[in-house]
Amino acid sequence: MRRYNMADVFVDRSLEEIRFWSRIMKEHSLFLKLGFNCEDTKLIEEADRFYSIFEEIESQALAFPSDVDPQRIYDFNQLVHNAVSYIWAFKRKVLGLIIQCKIGGNNFPLLVDHVSREAAYFRNRLEQLNTGNLDPLPDAVINENVFFLRIMADHAKFINHLLDPSERKLVDQAREFSHDFDQLLFQAQDLDSMRPQSQTKPLLNQFVDQNRVSVRQLRDFKKTARDLIEECKIKSIIPPLLADHVFREASHFLEILDAFEISLTHAK
Ligand SMILES: [Fe+2]
Ligand SMILES: [Fe+2]
Repeated sequence: MRRYNMADVFVDRSLEEIRFWSRIMKEHSLFLKLGFNCEDTKLIEEADRFYSIFEEIESQALAFPSDVDPQRIYDFNQLVHNAVSYIWAFKRKVLGLIIQCKIGGNNFPLLVDHVSREAAYFRNRLEQLNTGNLDPLPDAVINENVFFLRIMADHAKFINHLLDPSERKLVDQAREFSHDFDQLLFQAQDLDSMRPQSQTKPLLNQFVDQNRVSVRQLRDFKKTARDLIEECKIKSIIPPLLADHVFREASHFLEILDAFEISLTHAK
C-alpha cells in the first residue's frame, strides 16, 4: 500500500513537473537551433548541448522509482534548477543578440522571450518545491492564470505568423484566439491588482470557469492544427514537433485549471 504524506506529495509533484518541463526545455533547444543561421555554429553547438542536458534530465526523471528517498529528489531538483538557470541565461543572451541585430535567423524575439519565461517559471517552481513555499490556492489561481494566459496568447500569435498567408481561414481563427486570450489576460491582471480583495470564492470560481472554456477551445484548435500539419494537409512553416509542443502546453494548463476547479469546489 502506498503511503500518502508530505514526502510523497513532494516527490510526485517534483517528478511530474520535471518530466513535463524537461521535455519542453529539450524541445526549445531544438527550436532555437533550427532558427539560427547555419554560420552561427557556436550558438548551434550551445543549443545542442542544452538538448543533451535536458534529454538526460528527462530520462533520469522517468527512471526514479515511486518510493525514492525524498532527499535524492531534493538534490535532483537542485541539479535541474541549475541547468534551467543556464538555459534561461542562454535564451536571454540570444534575445539580446537578435534585438541588437547581431545575429539573423528565424527566431522571433517574442518567441525567444516566451521560451525564457517558460524557463523562469520552471526554475521558480523548483525553488518553491525545495523550500516548501508553494502558493496557497487563492494566489496560485491568479498567478498560474496570469502566466499561462499570456503563454496561450503568444502561441496564437506564433501560429498566426507561421501559417502560410494563403491559409486565410486558419489565420483568421488564430488571430481571434490571440485577441480572446489578450482580453482574458487583461482580466487576470485586473484581478491580480485587486488582490487580496478579489480573492473571493465566487470570483475565483467564475474566473477559472471562464478561462477553462477558452483554453479548451484553443487546445482543440491546436490539436486540429497539429493533426493537419502532421498529415501535410495545410501549408505552413510550423514544424510538426512545435505544433505538438504548443498543444501539450495547452493541455497542461487545462489540467491545472481542472485541478483548481476541484480544489475551489472543496475549499471552505
Ligand atoms: Fe514551450
Ligand atoms: Fe509555449
